[in-house]
Amino acid sequence: MQKFTFTVNGEQKTVEASPDTPLLWVLRDELDLVGTKFGCGIAQCGACTVHAGGLAVRSCSLPISAVGDQKITTIEGLDADAMHPLQQAWREHDVPQCGYCQAGQIMNAAALLKDNPDPSDADIDDAMYGNLCRCGTYNRIKAAVKTAAKLS
Ligand code: FES
Ligand code: FES
Repeated sequence: MQKFTFTVNGEQKTVEASPDTPLLWVLRDELDLVGTKFGCGIAQCGACTVHAGGLAVRSCSLPISAVGDQKITTIEGLDADAMHPLQQAWREHDVPQCGYCQAGQIMNAAALLKDNPDPSDADIDDAMYGNLCRCGTYNRIKAAVKTAAKLS
């Protein structure tokens, strides 16, 4: 076990973990940030998506030892009042069904809009391709991303 200090949602945290522990489990089990979900564990579904240094990353496949000084943002830290344009648009379009994939979807979409504030349909498809939804909410996700782009 080793100590790791890193910034998550604007707060510095120190945890004790094995260096190869995925960030996902540090967030969920050590820091109680359970909005980030475990799906596949092999970077194939997007349920665990958070931001590291402003980029969308799969936290199931990022060892805590590789976080370093990259600032981590989870769904809990996206907006203190859950009023990020994507969160507003998600509510407007009533996007979630079971909800399990949705934190990852929103975090992935947030990284997209940061880079590309006015994405085309193809841009959205390309960016969101790796975020799976077993409930098939893809059409509502796309509509909500477009709405959020207008609100941004
Ligand atoms: S749980 Fe990380 S990509 Fe599926
Ligand atoms: S809303 Fe159920 S998995 Fe996406």
